[in-house]
Amino acid sequence: MSAPNKSYDPVEVEALKPEEIERMRSEALAAFAAAGDLEALHEAKIAHTGPTSPLSLANREIGALPPQAKAEAGKRVGMARGVVSKALAARQAELEAERDARVLVEEAVDVTVPYDRVPAGARHPLTTLSERIEDVFVAMGYEVAEGPEVEAEWFNFDALNFEPDHPARAMQDTFFVQGRGTKDDESGVVLRTHTSPVQVRSMLDREPPIYVVCPGRVYRTDELDATHTPVFNQVELLAIDEGLTMADLKGTIEHMVRSLFGEGLTTRLRPNYFPFTEPSAELDMQCYVCRGESVGNPEAPCRTCSSEGWIELGGCGMVNPRVLVAAGIDPEKYSGFAFGFGIERMLMFRHNVEDMRDMVEGDVRFTRPFGMEI
Ligand code: PHE
Repeated sequence: MSAPNKSYDPVEVEALKPEEIERMRSEALAAFAAAGDLEALHEAKIAHTGPTSPLSLANREIGALPPQAKAEAGKRVGMARGVVSKALAARQAELEAERDARVLVEEAVDVTVPYDRVPAGARHPLTTLSERIEDVFVAMGYEVAEGPEVEAEWFNFDALNFEPDHPARAMQDTFFVQGRGTKDDESGVVLRTHTSPVQVRSMLDREPPIYVVCPGRVYRTDELDATHTPVFNQVELLAIDEGLTMADLKGTIEHMVRSLFGEGLTTRLRPNYFPFTEPSAELDMQCYVCRGESVGNPEAPCRTCSSEGWIELGGCGMVNPRVLVAAGIDPEKYSGFAFGFGIERMLMFRHNVEDMRDMVEGDVRFTRPFGMEI
């Protein structure tokens, strides 16, 4: 019987010697145990179980052995690989649990820590209300027009048919920036007392038909108190076209009232006087809270309209032909209507604001509850 071929003896294949396999196994286990985090474990995994790891290379040598030696070596290597992959899985689970526990601590949010962000403010309700009114008219085809707050006395008064000695011009009512010159054609300069000068500017800038809505700040020499402020906001409406009548004016404003306060509300006109409109009227809207139910009904009083059933909105009328002429428009061909009202007053009755000073003092506690909408 010939001696076994030396080259097929597994003991002779260096990598498959039991002590070698044992060394590979224990080196792998030591490397996994030494891996302090998942990244290090990943590297150890490639080094000790990857295709070029000593155990994988040893595994490849098995194929060349004779059947008996193959079985033994296969068992040895297989067991070693089994132990190694179990140890790897166990260490993997251990490190993942450690990471999860650490993330929980590191990313914990302490909801009791006081926050130091700048608190969100809110747009002023006068701005949002004014924009909402503009939107109503823009939807009807009107254009937003603006004019200067420091205005020539001519635009603020003369062109609007105020007589030279009209009491509204008096120092007590109007902030004069510069007095009227000595010559007749020298206009003074005022802080505009209403938005009506924008009517004249709009007519001079455009050809009829003209449909403009003019929001803006105006000034009067009033003391600041619960119902007055020397600076306030108006919205002016001007329409110039062929054949416009008071009915167009009333219908237009009624549409605005219904858009802002509710369907079905009506308006009424009361005779009044403005130099720049003829005829002129004061426009009231039906109270949107009680709709007139509170009138003569002490059982159900209405705070919004003081049980009068109507709320005064502002002044209006057909543009005085003298104003059309001053602005270069032929009164034989065109007629127009105008309407002007105060935003502060509307905000007061629309939102039960009782003191006008709250609107001008800039305290965010007033503004914030209005949020982004009104
Ligand atoms: N300008 C007037 C005011 O401030 C209001 C008004 C505007 C009246 C347009 C008639 C037409 O009181």
